[in-house]
Amino acid sequence: MCGISAYIGKENNAAEIVFNMLSRLEYRGYDSAGIAYVKEGKQDKIFVVKDKGMVEDVKKQYTPEHSDLCIGHTRWATHGESSKINAHPHLDCKQEIAVVHNGIIENYVSLKEILEEKGHKFISATDSEVLSHLIEEFYNKDDVLNLEEAIRQAIALLRGSYGIAVISSKEEKIVAARLGSPIIIGIGKDEDEYFISSDTNALLPYTNSTIPLNDGEIAILTKNDYKIINKDALPVQKKIEKILHDLQSAEKGEYAHYMLKEIFEQPRVINETMRGRLRLEEGIAKLGGVRMKKEEIRNINRIVFIACGTSLHAGMLGKYLMEEIARIPTEVEYASEFKYKFPVIDKGTLVIAISQSGETADTIASLREAKERGANTLGIVNVVGSTIAREAEKGVYVYAGPEIGVASTKAFTAQITALYLLSMYFGRIRNTISGFALRELVEEFARIPGKVSKILDDADVIKDIADEFYNYGDFLYLGRGYNFPIALEGALKLKEISYIHAEGYPAGEMKHGPIAMIDENFPTMAILVKDNVYNKIMSNVEEIKARHGRFIAIITEGDEEVKKILKGDDKNKVISVPKTHPLFYPFLTVVPLQLFAYFCALKLGRNVDKPRNLAKSVTVE
Ligand code: G6P
Repeated sequence: MCGISAYIGKENNAAEIVFNMLSRLEYRGYDSAGIAYVKEGKQDKIFVVKDKGMVEDVKKQYTPEHSDLCIGHTRWATHGESSKINAHPHLDCKQEIAVVHNGIIENYVSLKEILEEKGHKFISATDSEVLSHLIEEFYNKDDVLNLEEAIRQAIALLRGSYGIAVISSKEEKIVAARLGSPIIIGIGKDEDEYFISSDTNALLPYTNSTIPLNDGEIAILTKNDYKIINKDALPVQKKIEKILHDLQSAEKGEYAHYMLKEIFEQPRVINETMRGRLRLEEGIAKLGGVRMKKEEIRNINRIVFIACGTSLHAGMLGKYLMEEIARIPTEVEYASEFKYKFPVIDKGTLVIAISQSGETADTIASLREAKERGANTLGIVNVVGSTIAREAEKGVYVYAGPEIGVASTKAFTAQITALYLLSMYFGRIRNTISGFALRELVEEFARIPGKVSKILDDADVIKDIADEFYNYGDFLYLGRGYNFPIALEGALKLKEISYIHAEGYPAGEMKHGPIAMIDENFPTMAILVKDNVYNKIMSNVEEIKARHGRFIAIITEGDEEVKKILKGDDKNKVISVPKTHPLFYPFLTVVPLQLFAYFCALKLGRNVDKPRNLAKSVTVE
């Protein structure tokens, strides 16, 4: 949520570098954008280009000129509508200091009042503007110019969260600080240029050497050096971390959209997440990062998944898996609720945070709450080195690679891959699954990437169905058992990118309400694969048909019974997926739902990769 980038160094096109970085961060927020820079040879003035709209539109207002330091921002509005005035960077009264901010300053109202009493003039409706004025208050005190010291004193007064980058027209440096919102420093190849970014994707074209800041740290970057200090102004020694994925993995290549590319990457992503962990010869799953003794695993008496959005749906599936395979009572909590509901935790509780980005503010807050209450914690995370990856005591990385499309797809299949592995691993150690049954699962699991590929090969069938159904205003998504979380995920995908209202429901609940909505204008997407609830959902489909509701059913290929129901009926449609073990259908049912949402959104002319009002990483609570 909001992207920050900055550059200082040997290149004299700092502003262009910052614009390029911002366009790679835009999926974090895209309602307005802006930069602030100091022109070469004109150190005494800050130039700002900012406006409502996307980075590429704002960039058109910029006339290239020499600059060797620049900060930039792409915004997802929290306080104040999306407008030129509310766009970052924000300046102080003297127009000597420029600030970009990601996060929320919770005490901005009281700070603003104090600053106004002191004569500061505010022009925006944002919480962020208090930062530039507050820093101004502490800057140039006693005639000592020291931007980092002014920032250190200013941030000590803040409540809330921030990732900031700040420049002054009086000093040739960029200062960044973090509390709760990610800030990553990029070190140029020859250590003669430095970058700041909210995530590693924007750094990839320039460097793969990074230093993620921890909460409370302040980084001071000059043209040929950098320094990191803590809140007491003491120097902090940090290790340089390498970004492991390459530039190509963050590009969309021949695909029309990142989302489509990411959907098609899923067979590879499942394979990579399994690699080395699914031991076919031994018929077991092994997870090195879990680092728990057998005794500890046997002593888990309860699991609580905490997550948001798509990751929460992965956790819901994880609950079914943990309970069936490892026989551990499991709960799933919205991370935004967990922290504020006085959760009951004991030493036997394992709290598992699931997050693609590892930076979702609610998930981080809940993870910290769980740790404070004495839980064992484990992270299932995609972004290496992210806050959740660093703060959870144990971890399982999923190997989805950079996910740029705002609607999550491949991260979900990677997360559930990790959850299948984890529950199989726990099940084996707890002896809740027989060696024979486990081997059967392991063998079928290994076939899943191939089966997903088969669905992708037939994507055109789903496109044709979407072309027929995209004009409805509402949809009901039904699934039961393992496919209930998938129904929720499918409905979420449709809402997110096509803006069609969709409700996911456990199929058995249909008769307790949703059936009232069914008529010829209210279609249903039913997950009707050959598992233990097949007959039940078949009855739901009959009930829908009897009320003249149209439906699309996701069925197991070769299912003759469904075909009988559909005989002579071209109003309703089926999407076939390969046969698998009942436990593994979620991999095969979620992919058609992702494609269906994609093709509906395409037909409706939506911005698939950057849907309105959403952001990839929700870094504010
Ligand atoms: C946002 C994204 C979703 C994502 C959710 C949780 O809402 O748009 O795609 O599922 O955040 O993000 P996380 O990074 O924690 O998985």
